[in-house]
Amino acid sequence: MSGEEVLRAEGLRKVFPGVVALDGVDLSLRTGEVHVLLGENGAGKSTLIKILSGAYRPDGGLVRMDGRLVHPHSAGDAQRLGIATIYQEFNLVPQLTVAENLALGRPPRRFGFVDVARMERDAARLLDRVGVDVHPRTPVARLGIARMQMLEIAKALALHARVLIMDEPTAVLTTSEVAKLFTIVRQLRDEGVAIVFITHHLEEIAEIGDRVTVLRDGRSVAEVPANTRRDELVGLMVGRPIDQQYPRRPSPRGEPLLRVSGLTRAGAFDDVSFEVRAGEVVGVAGLVGAGRTEVARAVFGADRYDSGEVVVRGERLPPGDVHAAMEAGLGLVPEDRKGQGLVLGAGIGENLGLVTMRDATRAGFVDRTRLRTAAAQVAERLGIRMTGLDQEVRTLSGGNQQKVVIGKWLVADAHVLILDEPTRGIDVGAKVEIYQLVNALTDSGHAVLMISSDLPEVLGMSDRILVMARGRLVGELRATEATQDDVMALAVTEVEGSRAH
Ligand SMILES: Nc1ncnc2c1ncn2[C@@H]1O[C@H](COP(=O)(O)OP(=O)(O)OP(=O)(O)O)[C@@H](O)[C@H]1O
Ligand SMILES: [Mg+2]
Repeated sequence: MSGEEVLRAEGLRKVFPGVVALDGVDLSLRTGEVHVLLGENGAGKSTLIKILSGAYRPDGGLVRMDGRLVHPHSAGDAQRLGIATIYQEFNLVPQLTVAENLALGRPPRRFGFVDVARMERDAARLLDRVGVDVHPRTPVARLGIARMQMLEIAKALALHARVLIMDEPTAVLTTSEVAKLFTIVRQLRDEGVAIVFITHHLEEIAEIGDRVTVLRDGRSVAEVPANTRRDELVGLMVGRPIDQQYPRRPSPRGEPLLRVSGLTRAGAFDDVSFEVRAGEVVGVAGLVGAGRTEVARAVFGADRYDSGEVVVRGERLPPGDVHAAMEAGLGLVPEDRKGQGLVLGAGIGENLGLVTMRDATRAGFVDRTRLRTAAAQVAERLGIRMTGLDQEVRTLSGGNQQKVVIGKWLVADAHVLILDEPTRGIDVGAKVEIYQLVNALTDSGHAVLMISSDLPEVLGMSDRILVMARGRLVGELRATEATQDDVMALAVTEVEGSRAH
């Protein structure tokens, strides 16, 4: 049960050039509770927690811990106060090992030297606690995104925090990983840790939360119990009701625009064949590690393959050639936007124009004014919350960055769009806008291949669903008839003689 107030924020205010990110936010946090922060992309959730964790100084308002005023001015300050934070964009050093990351800044020493054996033992214990099966000496760069997330949690555990802040921890996890995470969260809560939990998955709120603070446009607009009805929560957060979460409207089918046959890469995927027709949305479901992202990257030419072929609009693509793929009209929205999708230091307009620019430069001519107009239209259509097209992408909220990644392919008018986890980190309202866009794309004769670990999304927005397991296509379902259980039953298929990992 939750107890006394451990942390209290009052009237927090934070101003960035051109944006008031927080404009009077209150938060009351008790020991032994999971407190959900809910709000649209850009509402100010991450800014709030960055103030609590010492990354930003507020321009107004105050923070108390145990009734005493505190001013965390650095991550170190916050940690000394017992506040640990897992950021939306991870804070790991990819070149270092798992154990080194876990001991970052305070490795155990013996006679003045880092005690590597103890560091690895400590790491093994923490990894065991979060249920991650990975060797402490593994370089972090080799971990998938889900394991990196669990590693971040292990890091926070190592700090013995009284307040644990998690910014969208489930955004990158699959169902079974979320279950694991929730077990750890509940355990910490029962030990009296106060947990701040940000999520865009509304169904998680009642499951893991105790109370909810709703932010809208930089203000806290309500504090309600976590079992508040979903439509009420949406109303508080978006300011309007959402009647249809998955508005898929099938479009007329045309020619196959993408044909993949016998695509194989030893150790990654094996004999993958499928096609996507004009007007069609084909979903790809499967567990993390099933090989979905690997196939998408190979199709797009970002990675090589051993055999098989990829044909886009009748034209066979040379393997491993991204430029040829783009020229043929293929686009890829990658799952890892920070690494592959964006130039963070450049403006929104420039990022939106990236693909088109590259194409046009090859053709020898760019109409910059037209490009700028197209970028402005797409930004408007996607509802990107920004001060203007010149705002640096780095300073956009997580969800708005994702919209820019999708937007650059809209500006480039890709005929076949591969979306890898397209709505990760996107709020409920903006999701619907992205789905409407998918409808508009297929209506205008485009084809969409959508990889998603969000089962309701795959079922709700695809026409057909391909299921992958262990590097192979193990089944195909019609979205209108299939259930989540059907998809899962296929996704856990054991494949005979599949890749040795
Ligand atoms: N460093 C910065 N410079 C300028 N503006 C910023 C900066 N950081 C955040 N902002 C702006 O502050 C507002 C709030 O952003 P914040 O990241 O807190 O949103 P959020 O609620 O976490 O959204 P999301 O759900 O998309 O992660 C946004 O308009 C964002 O563009
Ligand atoms: Mg955020």
